[in-house]
Amino acid sequence: MGLNVVLLGYGAIGRSLHGMLARHPDRIAVIGVLDGRAPKTADDATGTPLPVLDLATALGCAEVIAECASPAAVREFGPDIIASGTDLLIASLGALVDPRLRGLVLERGPGRAYLTTGAIGGLDLVRASAGTIDAIDLDTRKPPAALLHPGLPGPLRAGIAAAATSGDPCTVFSGSVERAVELFPSNINVAAALALAAGGFTRVHVTITADPAATLTRHEIRIQGSGGNHTFLIGNAADPENPATSALTARAMASGLLRLAGAGPHFI
Ligand SMILES: NC(=O)c1ccc[n+]([C@@H]2O[C@H](COP(=O)([O-])OP(=O)(O)OC[C@H]3O[C@@H](n4cnc5c(N)ncnc54)[C@H](O)[C@@H]3O)[C@@H](O)[C@H]2O)c1
Repeated sequence: MGLNVVLLGYGAIGRSLHGMLARHPDRIAVIGVLDGRAPKTADDATGTPLPVLDLATALGCAEVIAECASPAAVREFGPDIIASGTDLLIASLGALVDPRLRGLVLERGPGRAYLTTGAIGGLDLVRASAGTIDAIDLDTRKPPAALLHPGLPGPLRAGIAAAATSGDPCTVFSGSVERAVELFPSNINVAAALALAAGGFTRVHVTITADPAATLTRHEIRIQGSGGNHTFLIGNAADPENPATSALTARAMASGLLRLAGAGPHFI
C-alpha cells in the first residue's frame, strides 16, 4: 500500500494538495485532516470525504503529516509529531525562525522534518553552496492584496493600502528574515526557506514591494559568495483560493510527498 498521509491544514494548499495526491492512489493514501476549522473536508476535485482527526488518532495512522496550516500549527503540533516518530513535511517555514522550535523540530527525532521547497526553486543550490555564501538578497514583489492580513501594524497596513490606491509600486519592508516573518508570518516563508538552506538567518536580507500592477508574485533571489554568484527570478501565479499563496506550493508539496513515496526522478 502507499504512504499514509494526514494533512495538517485544509485550506487553499490542503485542498489543492489533496486533489493532486488523489491521482496517485497506488503511492499515497490521504487518510484525514487535522484542522477543526476547515469548512469542508471533501475536495471538489475528488469528492472524497476526509475524516477530521485529533492529534492522537493522526499520529496512530500517519507515516507523514503534511503541514499546510500556519506557523502557529507548526508551534502547536510540530514537536509532538516529531517526538512521536511520525515524519512532518512543513510549509510554514517562517515558524522556524524561532531557534528553540527549530531545535525541537529539526534536531530531535525520531520523526524526520522535511521542508518543502514551496514557492521557490534553487534551494538545492543554496544548500550545496551554504559554506561559500556571503549574502543573499531576496526581493519579493506581490499585489497589495497578497500582503494584507489582520495582524499588520496600522502604519504598514496604511502603506500597503496607499500603494493599492496610488497604482504605483511601493517598498513596504526592508530588513531581516526574522522581522519579515514577524510582520508577514504567512506571506514570506520563502525568506525562511533561503535562510534555512543557507544555514544562517543573518546572511539573508529581505525587501518586500507592494505592486498594484503585479499579476504574479515575483521573487528575485541574488546569491553572492566565494563559490560564485547566482540569480533566480521566479514569477508565480496565485492559488485561486488564496491570493497570498502561490499555486506552486501545493505542487511542490505533492512532488515532495510523491518522492517520499518512492516516485522518481530523484534529484538530490
Ligand atoms: N513555503 C512556502 O513557500 C509557502 C507558500 C505559501 C504558504 N505557505 C504556508 O502555508 C500556510 C497555509 O496556506 P493556505 O494558503 O493553505 O492558507 P489557508 O488560510 O487557505 O488555509 C489554512 C488552513 O489551515 C488551518 N489552520 C490554521 N492554523 C491551524 C492550526 N493551528 N491547527 C489546525 N489547523 C490550522 C485553517 O483552519 C485553514 O483551513 C500559510 O499559513 C503559510 O504559512 C508556505
